Amino acid sequence: MRKPLHVAITGAAGNIGYSLLWRLASGSCFGPDQPIILQLLEITPAMEKVKGVVMELHDSAFPLVHGIIATDDPEVAFKDADAIFLVGSRPRSKGMLRSDLVAANGPIFVGQGTAINAVASRDVKVVVVGNPCNTNCLIASHNAPDLDSSCFSAMTRLDQNRAAGQLALKAGVPVADVENVIIWGNHSPTMYPDTSVAKVGGKAASAAFDPEWLKAEFHKTVSTRGSAIIAARGASSAASAASAAIDHMADWFGGTHGKIVSMAIPSKGWYGVPEGLIYSFPVTVADGKISVVEGLEISDYAQEKINASAAELLGEREAVADLLK
Ligand code: NAD
Ligand code: LMR
Repeated sequence: MRKPLHVAITGAAGNIGYSLLWRLASGSCFGPDQPIILQLLEITPAMEKVKGVVMELHDSAFPLVHGIIATDDPEVAFKDADAIFLVGSRPRSKGMLRSDLVAANGPIFVGQGTAINAVASRDVKVVVVGNPCNTNCLIASHNAPDLDSSCFSAMTRLDQNRAAGQLALKAGVPVADVENVIIWGNHSPTMYPDTSVAKVGGKAASAAFDPEWLKAEFHKTVSTRGSAIIAARGASSAASAASAAIDHMADWFGGTHGKIVSMAIPSKGWYGVPEGLIYSFPVTVADGKISVVEGLEISDYAQEKINASAAELLGEREAVADLLK
């Protein structure tokens, strides 16, 4: 039996947590032979609720779960963590932009970045889900100066999955037939869902769909899907977000075997995106290492979209300058 991985989840008593924990515990993320120790973080007023979640996890009798702790102390939750899901934070409600959450949620990521810096494994893999996730990730990473910034990422996998889902629906094929859709930029309406190298059933998406549909309706549906879910459900996406977080971390640990996926990672200047921004790029993963797919042909139209999302993230970075070390 392999050595258990230490997996920390913040906001464990919340909606995403309730879906995420069961997928982690059943082996969907790290595989059917990989035991895990769950390290749950909540705020003090939610400790009673998280106690109930822990009771239910025990009642589910998952063979891969070799331990569960629940705490309101980040240094306990992140101790020796190999994988961290930073979910805990406030969701937006109807009429709000994700960026409206930065004042409420940004400070959370100062304390959590500091604690990760102090006690997590030196090659921990962190995915930030709590919104605005790109900028919260920037805050966490800046507050963890002893860790390589490559330990940090933010989640745009939900946007990628939404894009793939829309293409599959439109083409009337299973989503497994859709490959290589790219999400560029911020997890916000400025993101650019790019189908220039995507394939549907082995055929180039550019040939399979009306270019006007791709530019207008498809783009709008994907980039505003979060608000549409809030309007329909009265609460922000939860099960699909948990599922995307599983996909993101599973690919980071297990590799993508040549498949292109999208992850928001610290920019090294690729495709003209200013260095340091947590920006979603097309990537592949092998041996735990994320590599940006370089050399893609970028049209003027695409570059304009890529630049616009970078400009938005520069503005967000400026707005949280006092939270960055
Ligand atoms: P929720 O309100 O149901 O749960 C959030 C949980 O976080 C609560 O239990 C709360 O007590 C806890 N929490 C708050 N502050 C905390 C802290 N400092 N430390 C630990 N826990 C803390 O919300 P949810 O639906 O689970 O959503 C969580 C976040 O994920 C929101 O910010 C939401 O906008 C975001 N989200 C992101 C994506 C994405 O694609 N990146 C998708 C969906 C939701
Ligand atoms: C989503 O995309 O569903 C989440 O980021 C929640 C939101 O506020 O849109």
